[in-house]
Amino acid sequence: MALPRQLGLVVLLLLCGTQGRWSSPIPLATCPEACVCPDRTQINCSSLGLSVAPRHPSMSRTADLDLSHNLLRAVALHRPNLELRALRLGNNQISYLSLCLDMRSSDGGGRRLRAPEAWRNQRSKRFVSWAPSLLLLSMEKNRLAETPRGLGGSRALQVLQLSYNQISTLDAGDLEGLWQLKELHLHHNLISSLHPQAFMGLTNLTVIDLSFNLLMSVSPATFLSPRVGLEVRGDGNPWRCDCEMASLKRWMALDADRDQRLWLDMVCFSPSSLAGRDLLQLREEDLGCPGPSAQNRPGFHHDLTVDQGSTVLLPCSIEQGSHLLGYVVDSV
Ligand SMILES: *[C@@H]1O[C@H](CO)[C@@H](O)[C@H](O)[C@H]1NC(C)=O
Ligand SMILES: *[C@@H]1O[C@H](CO)[C@@H](O)[C@H](O)[C@H]1NC(C)=O
Repeated sequence: MALPRQLGLVVLLLLCGTQGRWSSPIPLATCPEACVCPDRTQINCSSLGLSVAPRHPSMSRTADLDLSHNLLRAVALHRPNLELRALRLGNNQISYLSLCLDMRSSDGGGRRLRAPEAWRNQRSKRFVSWAPSLLLLSMEKNRLAETPRGLGGSRALQVLQLSYNQISTLDAGDLEGLWQLKELHLHHNLISSLHPQAFMGLTNLTVIDLSFNLLMSVSPATFLSPRVGLEVRGDGNPWRCDCEMASLKRWMALDADRDQRLWLDMVCFSPSSLAGRDLLQLREEDLGCPGPSAQNRPGFHHDLTVDQGSTVLLPCSIEQGSHLLGYVVDSV
């Protein structure tokens, strides 16, 4: 009786031994179920009707993760993926995304930090990003009400595609740290306000697409940081062409002269008398500003408030052709 049992134990040990040797290194499970992995660097789980993102070891090693065209409401990796360059989340139902690693992932996986207070706290602390090497983040056609949190942890990000969401505002700091950002796609959102410092320091931006939002006016200071070669797309916004827009118009004229920023389709929506007119083609009098003759009056006085560190263009009363001369003044 004792003999067969001992034999059984030996056989078992042998089996374990050989299995251990064969599977060392353990062949890494190659691909999450139903997804397609053309090579070791790509995982494609698009159009699978997923309502939960797969949890699979390969997710924290892949360079290109495509989860687009699913029914996802949230996405997060549970440990940092240093290889991840492209994250494709378009056409889902995501209303909030944070790239900050959730240190309490056991209980609070989807807990939402309310911006901006929570974010300020979070920024002043140090956070760990789960996608620190991203070059591309695309999440068009989702339900985002605000820009993803923790973007600043992806220092190399070049393309941010957030069109067709429900983002209503862009605050200072939302894009902070994205010094390599080249393209920012925000068209078809509900943006009605842009903080004048929203794009501060983003000198590599070549395209800001703000078309089809709810912008009525914008401070020219907003676009001064990305300098040469920036294209701003503004069509499909209810621009209100009043004297407040005069300063922006001056910049547009100067940029056109110097071949710098390119302003596309800044077309007035209101007042009704100017609806459909191109802002750049209007005169300051058209915008309801006091005309040059009024400004030339002796004793003409006009207060001007300038944001610290920003640059303003002051109108000069001499018109030369259709161009308005101006002065660039750096504030102290
Ligand atoms: C993923 O697969 C779909 C087809 O199922 C394809 O259209 C898409 O381009 C693929 N994604 C990538 C990043 O190649
Ligand atoms: C812009 O990008 C280039 C290369 O992509 C980089 O060398 C440069 O530092 C970036 N600009 C800033 C302000 O970081």
